[in-house]
Amino acid sequence: MPILIDGLTSLEYRGYDSAGIYIPGAGSVRAVGAVGSLKSKLPKNLKGESGIAHLRWATHGEPTVANAHPHRDCSGTIWVVHNGIIENHQELRDKLIKEGHKFLSKTDTEVLPHLVEHYFKKEKDLERAVLKTLRDIRGTYGAVFVSEQEPDKLIAVRMGAPVVLGLGDGENFIASDPSPILRHTKNVIYLQDGEMAVITPTSHAIYTFDRARVRRSPEKVEWSPEQIQKGGFKHFMLKEIMEGPEVIENTLRGRLVVDKGLAKLGGLESVSEKLRGVKRIIIVGCGTAYYAGLVGEYMLEEYAGIPVEVEVGSEFRYRKPVMDSETILLAVSQSGETADTLEAIREAKRKGILTLGIVNTVGSTIARETDAGIFNHAGPEIGVASTKAFLSQVTALALLTLFLGRQRQMSLVTGKRIAKELLDLPEKVDIILSDHQKLRSLARKYSKYDDFLYIGRKYNYPIALEGALKLKEVSYVHAEGCGAGEMKHGPLAMIDPNFPTVAIAPKDSVYEKMVSNIQEIKARKGKVLVITNREGKELRALADDLIVVPKTLEMLSPILTVVPLQLFAYYFAVEKGLNVDRPRNLAKSVTVE
Ligand code: F6R
Repeated sequence: MPILIDGLTSLEYRGYDSAGIYIPGAGSVRAVGAVGSLKSKLPKNLKGESGIAHLRWATHGEPTVANAHPHRDCSGTIWVVHNGIIENHQELRDKLIKEGHKFLSKTDTEVLPHLVEHYFKKEKDLERAVLKTLRDIRGTYGAVFVSEQEPDKLIAVRMGAPVVLGLGDGENFIASDPSPILRHTKNVIYLQDGEMAVITPTSHAIYTFDRARVRRSPEKVEWSPEQIQKGGFKHFMLKEIMEGPEVIENTLRGRLVVDKGLAKLGGLESVSEKLRGVKRIIIVGCGTAYYAGLVGEYMLEEYAGIPVEVEVGSEFRYRKPVMDSETILLAVSQSGETADTLEAIREAKRKGILTLGIVNTVGSTIARETDAGIFNHAGPEIGVASTKAFLSQVTALALLTLFLGRQRQMSLVTGKRIAKELLDLPEKVDIILSDHQKLRSLARKYSKYDDFLYIGRKYNYPIALEGALKLKEVSYVHAEGCGAGEMKHGPLAMIDPNFPTVAIAPKDSVYEKMVSNIQEIKARKGKVLVITNREGKELRALADDLIVVPKTLEMLSPILTVVPLQLFAYYFAVEKGLNVDRPRNLAKSVTVE
């Protein structure tokens, strides 16, 4: 039981609304809320040599005890935990009810144990019953089955939701990501779609759904268990913001040849020649990763001269995008498991398009399914709000810009300049972080407001969007990001003394325009908090509050301007006493559509 409970705790960052555990022969306990509420309900005698446990993030059916996993068949001998969505659950449920099955929850998942029960009666073999069940269902799943009759055996299946095996000494594990496994073993095998794994404490075997044996050697996970601890910080979000300098260093490590103005990207070597001929890039991501992609658009167009479009995965996958052999798709994803981004990649691959990834999680589905790419090396990000991953994503996009730019028209001088400026970034982020108490008092001062406008232009337009997203997701206050030039086409109407604006206005090619936009807000008696890198009289006179970050190249300025906004959102949520690391309604890894 402790292994399962610890495992759930290390997965809590992915989002939850209820939790549950089942130990063959000992029983099941489920609770609404986090692992803490489950723990408080656990009887001492819930012990065993094997078991399954789950954290649920509701899709079908409210977060109630009845809807929490694990779910069981009528006899209470076959149990399952499941991530994903069974799309045809209603018709299956109706059929099973007609056959006399009794359902106890409103979830889509519950059809799984009942179907296995149905087939087990004929097959008398759990693996076969599971495989037959899979033929009946449509949708996505990463699921684990166990039967009281064979308590030492766990069966995992995967179609669209991650499953990883951990291979230990006399003990084996199954989880949806490596974090709960790490404290027991670093040897893991990632299951692929269409595969089933059968483990016992001393054996493991992988099969296709046609029961062909799959031989795959384990790989070593680099992440250490310490990386997924708070390390003295009150919250993961703060720890991860503070890791910014180190994260940029890790993303850059070994990838710059400064005197030649080059980026050396091992993950792109295999496609390097193909990339010379690329005429268009489509960047796909969701949320924060999408905003990183928007920064990439400005960089790649300005410095590599390649037309770029950026789109959220959830829209791209349902469009009929026009792509030819000179187009590539670049997916940006921290988790490497975001369903919408993954489907966008698959759609592009169906059309024969080369796909690249900027992914943080080695071994993740997006990392495996893209043709080539750049790993972030940002380390595990546990706080639900993405912070350090964003810094790393924009850094990786700058590396890609240098790589593609130098394949094209970018001069040696420009290449050297970008490389040098990139190397200086960690120290500059450090300077911003050392001023974190100022952000804390500003957050306190502004925490009485319920509405915010964030504005920026060009490279810092995406930062306005990201700053607003950070604030709304951890503080639950209304924050809108807007291109500063768009303000007078609508959003300006909202401005009054109770509707402050956060303006990102570094001294760059659009600085004067930003100053005019700030003046427009001041003329409407709006309060303005300005993030800049120039402490001139002009801004001092206009701004109600001013945060000054170090100077860098315009294209790299988002990496610096975003940091105060991350701190501002963090302290704002802390001020409101909210659960910063696990905002309500959100999950870290969005493996459902
Ligand atoms: C916001 C946030 C989300 C993620 C988005 C994509 O702070 O964390 O918007 O950025 O869900 O996730 P990944 O990068 O894992 O694909």
